[in-house]
Amino acid sequence: MKIISIVGARPQFIKAALVSKKLRTKGIKEILVHTGQHYDFNMSDVFFSELELPKPEYYLGIGSGNHGEQTGKMLIEIEKVLLKEKPDVVIVYGDTNSTLAGALAAIKLHISVAHVEAGLRSFNKEMPEEINRVLTDHVSKWLFAPTETAVKNLHKEGIFNGIYNVGDVMFDVALESIQRVNEKEILEKHNVRPKRFILATIHRAENTDVKENLENIWQALNEIALIGWEILFPIHPRTEKALRNFGIDVHSKSKNLLLIPPVSYFEMLALEKNARLIITDSGGVQKEGYFWGTPCVIPRNETEWVELIEIGFNKLTGTKKEDIVKCVTEMVTKMEEKLNIGSLYGRGNASDRIVEVLVKS
Ligand code: UD1
Ligand code: UDP
Repeated sequence: MKIISIVGARPQFIKAALVSKKLRTKGIKEILVHTGQHYDFNMSDVFFSELELPKPEYYLGIGSGNHGEQTGKMLIEIEKVLLKEKPDVVIVYGDTNSTLAGALAAIKLHISVAHVEAGLRSFNKEMPEEINRVLTDHVSKWLFAPTETAVKNLHKEGIFNGIYNVGDVMFDVALESIQRVNEKEILEKHNVRPKRFILATIHRAENTDVKENLENIWQALNEIALIGWEILFPIHPRTEKALRNFGIDVHSKSKNLLLIPPVSYFEMLALEKNARLIITDSGGVQKEGYFWGTPCVIPRNETEWVELIEIGFNKLTGTKKEDIVKCVTEMVTKMEEKLNIGSLYGRGNASDRIVEVLVKS
């Protein structure tokens, strides 16, 4: 059996790490294709070295661009690779433009698609990710769902075959990686103390491309920092550019709001685990917070990871400044009780189960 795995954006390097390792350990021929959607050292290379991912056999160098342009260029280049390599299966991860391009290129050539993280929905069709995940699910032969909610979402869309609720591959990778993380060293590097700081990440299009939303979030972070909370904000390149383009003056920020470049995965895990609270619109980060018992305030109107909202662990605030500040100030004062970590996202063996299903087919 020959498998091609398509990755391209930061969370996909993380999601693919253990599945790739386990496929190769089983002697399966896996070819890794990196579309080049993310290309900065700290958005790409650092994950390959930390997670010991093999060097991609193909680096397509697509880079940034408008959705149609970026996805179209990927489609052209991925198709060339598929025609040359003739794989039996193409694995795609998550919901980025690299996911959709990989799935489309494969299905048009009648190659079977395996979608890892199938069935997630925000029910907001203005999100590029929602389009990517819905379309990918509908052309996939194997749909590896992380939760029962994801399975139900697929059923509601008339998909019943090929669904496997295997748990979340990000949980596997986080559990394995945390053992290799030197938390003390990382906290010292960033000059923060356990449970005495807030971690923030923002990069969703709806929050970075709409000036009012970005301004609100920026002002909320400043207000929380002015109260006295130290906020560590590893800033996604998209967000950095948006702040600049909207003329938001990052120099007149509160001194407690610390802007730093994106951090490595190991650093991020240590920061999430030791933060008092996380403010994030990231999909991955809101779950990782839960893995370590650190709650998240999410400046969005909806989330795909609804379980954490339902149990009251994470909170959605929307993007009004007052709502974000109010929610954060309420949440930082109450410490969460110890959780049965990860119980909502499988048992940390999602990657084994995925490999098992694919090998048997
Ligand atoms: C993409 C995914 C999003 C995912 C996120 C993870 C899509 C539609 N979106 O969003 O689902 O949550 O990745 O981080 O696929 N840039 C750089 N250097 C890089 C990469 C990007 O400077 O290495 C800048 C460019 O200005 C680029 C912008 O960031 O235009 C956005 O990058 P892009 O990959 O289009 O979308 P993300 O916002 O990263
Ligand atoms: N992450 C990281 N460094 C950062 C920010 C995020 O390593 O500076 C990791 C994070 O731990 C998680 C993944 O990147 O595993 C989430 O990616 P991102 O937030 O970019 O995308 P999303 O999950 O929203 O698609």
